[in-house]
Amino acid sequence: MDSTFATPLAQRPLEHGCDLVVHSATKFIGGHNDITLGVAAGSRDLVDWLWGFAVLQGAVASPHEAAGGIRGLRTLGVRLAHQSESAMKLASALEGDRRVASVRYPGLPSHPQAELARCQMDLMGGLVTFDVVGGLDAGRHLVESTGICRLATSLGGPETLVTHPASTTHVSLLPEELEAAGIGPGTIRMSVGLEDPDDLVRDLDAALGSG
Ligand SMILES: Cc1ncc(COP(=O)(O)O)c(C=O)c1O
Repeated sequence: MDSTFATPLAQRPLEHGCDLVVHSATKFIGGHNDITLGVAAGSRDLVDWLWGFAVLQGAVASPHEAAGGIRGLRTLGVRLAHQSESAMKLASALEGDRRVASVRYPGLPSHPQAELARCQMDLMGGLVTFDVVGGLDAGRHLVESTGICRLATSLGGPETLVTHPASTTHVSLLPEELEAAGIGPGTIRMSVGLEDPDDLVRDLDAALGSG
């Protein structure tokens, strides 16, 4: 299970029967967009096997990355609580907006797996996905119009980042592949940061324009 989006504070897949859990600690665990690091958790046997493989491949964390990971862990709790609360606020604001076709956030009662998320997750995390009315052009326009939310592909850091997968990260996919991945022409992925959520609501409101 890749549990990067949830972090170990929001969800613990080993308790739900998974054998091995990996996290890109580059994201929420590091939390400052300044390290590249990975974490794996599981049974002794599996972790020993992975460790041997990692050493053979030379995938060893540098002192800077390791120290950044430890520093990030100290503040993960407060950061993720703030990001989850802000994400819920933004998801609710977007859901009621006529310029937005749909919103996906596990904390929203409208999410198809809201009940499962409620049983399984302690926090709902900082990732919100929404589809703007107007498709490709409207999606591209939004990510180029925000002031506080920056257009970049990473997630889990202090700054709110937005991506428009159909015109950037997933531009090479065929229409049917995009659909299978749940990506529409107007889909926006937002990693909510540590800013004041009211500022973020105002930023998105202005970027959505007249719709
Ligand atoms: C869910 C998820 N897992 C793993 C990775 C890979 O992370 P890293 O860049 O630390 O190797 C990413 C990177 O975007 C990710 O989003």
